[in-house]
Amino acid sequence: MKLDKFERYPLTFGPTPIEPLPRLSAALGGEVEIFAKREDCNSGLAFGGNKLRKLEYIVPDALRSGADTLVSIGGVQSNHTRMVAATAAKLGMKCVVVQEKWVPHYDAVYDRVGNILLSRLMGADSRIVEDGFDIGIRKSWEDAIQSVHDAGGVPYGIPAGASVHKYGGLGYVGFAEEVKAQEEALGFTFDYIIVCVVTGSTQAGMIVGFADQNRAHRVIGIDASATLEQTRAQVRGIVDSTADLVELGRAVTDDEIVIIPDYAYPAYGVPSEETNEAIRLAARTEAMITDPVYEGKSMQGMIDLIRTGRIPAGSRVLYAHLGGAPALNGYSYYYKDG
Ligand SMILES: Cc1ncc(COP(=O)(O)O)c(C=O)c1O
Repeated sequence: MKLDKFERYPLTFGPTPIEPLPRLSAALGGEVEIFAKREDCNSGLAFGGNKLRKLEYIVPDALRSGADTLVSIGGVQSNHTRMVAATAAKLGMKCVVVQEKWVPHYDAVYDRVGNILLSRLMGADSRIVEDGFDIGIRKSWEDAIQSVHDAGGVPYGIPAGASVHKYGGLGYVGFAEEVKAQEEALGFTFDYIIVCVVTGSTQAGMIVGFADQNRAHRVIGIDASATLEQTRAQVRGIVDSTADLVELGRAVTDDEIVIIPDYAYPAYGVPSEETNEAIRLAARTEAMITDPVYEGKSMQGMIDLIRTGRIPAGSRVLYAHLGGAPALNGYSYYYKDG
């Protein structure tokens, strides 16, 4: 496999730490050992998160293109658009981010706190539009790219989640190589890797990277999109294109793509009571903060898989914490009593 042939522009501190979570493990019966890989602590750029690993492989292409403006898209509380705004600020570029009404959630300050506040603070031109949730290529985004052209700028488009971009899957191929090196230092290997999936390139990159180690089927995607078929199709496509790029040398089979849809209810961006209980448990046992849109749902999924024995006793589990905590500010009413 050839990841090194791609140029990488560093936006992160380097390999992310793997942290044992003994109190969470004990709270779930103590038979499964849980660790977290702290992608949420990966950078000094505006609280970091999973998008930076992806953007590290996209930025060289943006710089080569001669662009002066990054243009991207997400929901009102999108972590991805925050990370694109941060990258633009760091590079000295302009930034336009389209923020669609992806979430049927109504909190008085939802469009003024958390991620969108940070994006505005970093100078992004944040444009709220009325369209609903969709992880695909969007007209509102194409219109924003055109508006930069019309104003005499040179746009560089980055789709939602940096996923349907030719280099979007590369960052998390590198994650798999990093885990392998860390396992060698730790002296053991993980039996399962838990990861939240929505736009797809995080899990898709991991699948390609771990396929090279013949354990892609141990990457358990927990869907938070609630549009499983679209997410699964998007992961499938990114797996194939990324495997080609890095010359994996074999096809990835459908059963190496594991996505569990059971925890995405009631909707993308809306936590269930079980999601909120999972968020509280991680916070109270490990001071590890997860959010109601993404990591709270993958935390809920991991907890349930352990409690029901589907992750069997004796396993070691690596929970990929992908970031996202700033969105909590848009959901303050849920947690007014803790
Ligand atoms: C915090 C967080 N977790 C998980 C995800 C899901 O990752 P992906 O969109 O690559 O599937 C995202 C972005 O969508 C995110 O911001």
